[in-house]
Amino acid sequence: MLVSSSQRLIFSTPEAVANAVADLIIKVVQEKPSATLGLATGGTMEPVYARLVTAFKHGEISFSAVTSFNLDEYAELPPEHPGSYRSTMNALLFDHVDIDKSRTFLPEANGSEPDKSGARYEDMIAAAGGIDLQLLGIGRNGHIGFNEPGSARDSRTRLVNLHTDTLEANARFFADRPVPRSAMTMGIGTIMSARKIALVATGASKTDAIHRATQGGFQADCPASALQDHGQVTWFLDTAAAGLQRAA
Ligand code: F6R
Repeated sequence: MLVSSSQRLIFSTPEAVANAVADLIIKVVQEKPSATLGLATGGTMEPVYARLVTAFKHGEISFSAVTSFNLDEYAELPPEHPGSYRSTMNALLFDHVDIDKSRTFLPEANGSEPDKSGARYEDMIAAAGGIDLQLLGIGRNGHIGFNEPGSARDSRTRLVNLHTDTLEANARFFADRPVPRSAMTMGIGTIMSARKIALVATGASKTDAIHRATQGGFQADCPASALQDHGQVTWFLDTAAAGLQRAA
């Protein structure tokens, strides 16, 4: 029998959400300094990483023994491009804390054999002992990682095409060129293998996706709904994403 300890935590502001998520990461790493973290990018995560950098500077957390695996990386883009998720992670977190960058991994999105690169990423995660805590944002269309609507529930790390909605939503991160149209992403199955998951959503643009993700069982048109079958998910939401009125 699956005993679920999934829970929904609702905060009045995005800042309070970010602080609570950062506090969870700090707790996980304090309890297990060699934790393997699954990391995400996107605007929702920026205040989370800012809070972690502050916590590091105050001596509340050390990443020196942590290993990390990011969810996804754009194809068609060199890792040095400022819009790549490697550059983004360096700028937001890795360059400011004591993590050993040789233990920070992102999927290899530009290789000539994407199937092999995807399988290798899965092997690397397994060799690291699996993911202790996976951070997730959610797309307006219900995607997690870059598993767009229609992704198989048992999908693993692979090359995918991005939906128009995702290209539109992420255009704000690219001043000099269009958003890459494809990316390498962990699959829904990869994400579901993490021991614990923290899904983070803020703002009214996520209300509908959160609604569909949290009720009615798995629907392929909302990949995040697969998380209903994972017993250890904490949904960190602000009142807007949760669809509640903010108290006056
Ligand atoms: C990023 C990722 C995406 C984002 C999602 C939300 O690594 O995997 O699933 O988490 O698109 O992005 P924001 O936070 O920019 O709304």
